[in-house]
Amino acid sequence: MLKVVLLMMIMMLGSQSEAQLNSDFYKESCPSLFHVVRRVVHRAVAREPRMGASLLRLFFHDCFVNGCDGSLLLDDTPSFLGEKTAGPSNNSVRGYEVIDKIKFKVEKICPGIVSCADILAITARDSVLLLGGPGWSVKLGRRDSTTANFAAANSGVIPSPASTLNNLINRFRAQGLSTRDMVVLSGAHTIGKAKCVTFRNRIYNESNINPSFAMSRRKSCPAANGSGDNKVANLDVRSPEMFDHSYYKQLLGNKGLLTSDQVLFNNGPTDSLVVAYSHSLRAFHRDFARAMVKMGDISPLTGSNGQIRHNCRRPN
Ligand code: HEM
Ligand SMILES: *[C@@H]1O[C@H](CO)[C@@H](O)[C@H](O)[C@H]1NC(C)=O
Ligand SMILES: *[C@@H]1O[C@H](CO)[C@@H](O)[C@H](O)[C@H]1NC(C)=O
Ligand SMILES: *[C@@H]1O[C@H](CO)[C@@H](O)[C@H](O)[C@H]1NC(C)=O
Repeated sequence: MLKVVLLMMIMMLGSQSEAQLNSDFYKESCPSLFHVVRRVVHRAVAREPRMGASLLRLFFHDCFVNGCDGSLLLDDTPSFLGEKTAGPSNNSVRGYEVIDKIKFKVEKICPGIVSCADILAITARDSVLLLGGPGWSVKLGRRDSTTANFAAANSGVIPSPASTLNNLINRFRAQGLSTRDMVVLSGAHTIGKAKCVTFRNRIYNESNINPSFAMSRRKSCPAANGSGDNKVANLDVRSPEMFDHSYYKQLLGNKGLLTSDQVLFNNGPTDSLVVAYSHSLRAFHRDFARAMVKMGDISPLTGSNGQIRHNCRRPN
């Protein structure tokens, strides 16, 4: 009896894992995949450290719109509009050329094997590691979508920088991510830059902001709507190119750049998490790695769904 039950459990596990992602997915079919990706990411980040941030953000914007399926990378076609020009990404998400370069090299060594969605997942991990963050074992086996969804990308699934805390919590919960996941993933803003248009209201109109921080940010972000919208500032004042925990220390000092950053520490229910991550780099790194794996699990296409695109910018 016990043997039969055990056997059934093993069979169930086996059939389940067919549709699941796993880190050995390309072990036989593309053994040098990790090496090739890392080399290109390394070169891109060495040339411009901000690119590490941009590549990490690509994965977030891909996963939050209909799952981690590479849809973000598709250009407009006669039959659909891509997601690149949707509000949260237009003139802001960058790094597409680096993904093209990686895909080109990967196609040379293992043509038709590795999805663009998986390349985004590996690239995000490598970027974080290169900037001093944690590593993690990337789960693979996602396939690529054949279409993109401009309307979905504009529907608010990617939260706005003006979000309230409740808004953030709900947006992440809708993706199967907890409040803790949301707080720790927001720590990605320990690297990279934001445009004036995304933080103007915060630096001119909010009261929970350090006055000298607001003053210094105003210098490169004029008050008038539409003027200097594209001027950028570091999301983390202290160490914008290091994947450390200074993002959380900044929040304690009311120096969050975006409204959606500072709401995490504003006499609310997530204050204690912010304090914990500001104290412990280890806890931040550990939880960030876990949450990235979880984010990478959002609605992947597997099995015979989707395709392996030859060019990340268009369906085959
Ligand atoms: C919690 C909700 C989030 C909001 C409201 C948000 C919003 C933003 C905004 C407005 C920018 C600046 C874009 C620009 O001005 O061009 C930005 C940048 C960035 N975001 Fe987020 N974000 C969120 C979560 C995340 C997550 C989960 C990640 C990754 C795990 C992430 C990674 C980044 C990175 C790395 C940058 C800098 C990109 C660069 O310099 O190119 N963000 N985010
Ligand atoms: C994207 O930005 C460009 C340049 O600012 C603008 O011309 C275009 O209308 C925007 N696209 C959408 C769909 O809003
Ligand atoms: C600040 O808020 C007021 C009132 O809502 C608004 O009229 C003004 O344009 C805002 N200023 C900025 C820089 O966002
Ligand atoms: C500037 O933009 C803010 C935020 O979108 C808005 O609340 C405000 O009314 C605008 N101010 C003017 C003068 O148009």
